[in-house]
Amino acid sequence: MTIDYQEKIPNNVGLGEDRRLRRALERWLPGYQRWWREFGPVDSESLDVYLRTAISVEAGGWANYGYVRMPDYRWGIFLAHPEPDRRVGFGMHAGEPAWQEVPGEYRAELRRLIVTQGDTEPASVEQQRHLGKTCPSLYDLRNLFQVNVEEGRHLWAMVYLLHGFFGRDGREEAEAMLERHSGDPDRPRILNAFNQETPDWLSFFMFTYFTDRDGKYQLASLAESGFDPLSRTCRFMLTEEAHHMFVGESGIRRIVQRACEAMNEHKTGEPRAHGVIDLPTLQKYLNLHFSASLDLFGQELSTNAANYYTMGLKGRFRETRIDDDHRLADALYPVPEVRGDAAVMVEAPALTAVNERLRDDYVVDCQRGLGKWNRVIRDAGIDFELRLPRRAFNRKIGAFAGIRSTPEGRIITEGEWDRRQAGWLPSAEDQAYVQSLMAPVTEPGKMANWIAAPAKGIDGKPIEFEYLRFD
Ligand SMILES: [Fe+2]
Ligand SMILES: [Fe+2]
Repeated sequence: MTIDYQEKIPNNVGLGEDRRLRRALERWLPGYQRWWREFGPVDSESLDVYLRTAISVEAGGWANYGYVRMPDYRWGIFLAHPEPDRRVGFGMHAGEPAWQEVPGEYRAELRRLIVTQGDTEPASVEQQRHLGKTCPSLYDLRNLFQVNVEEGRHLWAMVYLLHGFFGRDGREEAEAMLERHSGDPDRPRILNAFNQETPDWLSFFMFTYFTDRDGKYQLASLAESGFDPLSRTCRFMLTEEAHHMFVGESGIRRIVQRACEAMNEHKTGEPRAHGVIDLPTLQKYLNLHFSASLDLFGQELSTNAANYYTMGLKGRFRETRIDDDHRLADALYPVPEVRGDAAVMVEAPALTAVNERLRDDYVVDCQRGLGKWNRVIRDAGIDFELRLPRRAFNRKIGAFAGIRSTPEGRIITEGEWDRRQAGWLPSAEDQAYVQSLMAPVTEPGKMANWIAAPAKGIDGKPIEFEYLRFD
């Protein structure tokens, strides 16, 4: 089905024929718009931004670029096409036809999964709302706003499921999505990483690399769901998520490149004297964001996760491509455990370890970007290597929550942690330094001194293209 832009709410779910649902969503719309004005990007009302908008959900052909006045962005509801004869792929219902309605006995669990995912989407918009004021270039500002409008659309995707399939309590949950706010002491967002500030662009790039990638893995495992509408909406969201992670990966690469250039130009002295972000500081931000994102996967052993799996609600990453029984009746999976002052691996039931498996898949994926960034450093002839810290480092959830560890994974005392943590995580001084670099650059084609130009522009346009028009 093509996307209907004549409707007040663009969609490919036949909203025109479903009066009850359309009216429910149209009642939610003004609250959403109010939320965007109050909690979305600051001072963006009068900007024309060169954005992509979905015009169809066909692979590769969905993006249409053009100038959009930010508040007029057409948020909508887009599901990937149904797969004919799709079956539940795992758990106790494996092989049964996928559900087109919510199975009554799993209603509460499914709603919880959708609310938890949905809550992260507006949260990241709230976290990033001040960044526009200090953009390093028009190109980057456009990318920020593209990410923001798409996270807004991801909220729409989850709200569609709540309104369309859960009745009254779904509508209440949809309201609550606009009432919780990132960092709000009384009504915070559900997950901790989404209550932290994103105070500068280095944090933004780290967030889009590491935290949006957590989003990719959560969405991918929900895309396996036996509840077909959830699967289809997640499959389309994943195509948007890919751009967010590109923004992070390329942003960090450009910062690394600029740091290396400055070091090679000047040979001596502190890179900071030349107004770039030095590699050790980058490593600290990386340590922080990676460890916070690892926590988002939850406990290593989780009965909730096992239940979601057995019920057929949330699968493993690329479940259908895994060659096993898809029930995990007797299978084992290695998980870390702290014994005394050492971390050891123990075999646990694979069913209760599905969180850990997803985290493992995520870590492998994270490593790929580091390979690219380290190549830039090597090619510049500089002796430095960015590394992912070990799992035990700086964790708040799971087996390592109660201990202190070096980035290399050695368990240490609280005293050693206190003495050394400023060398591993951004200190107040590091944060102040990064903040001191944040000044807006809005001349087309120009870049802030601390970041290299991108390899190419967006949508085949040159880097000097006017990606934003100010009124
Ligand atoms: Fe998202
Ligand atoms: Fe995202």
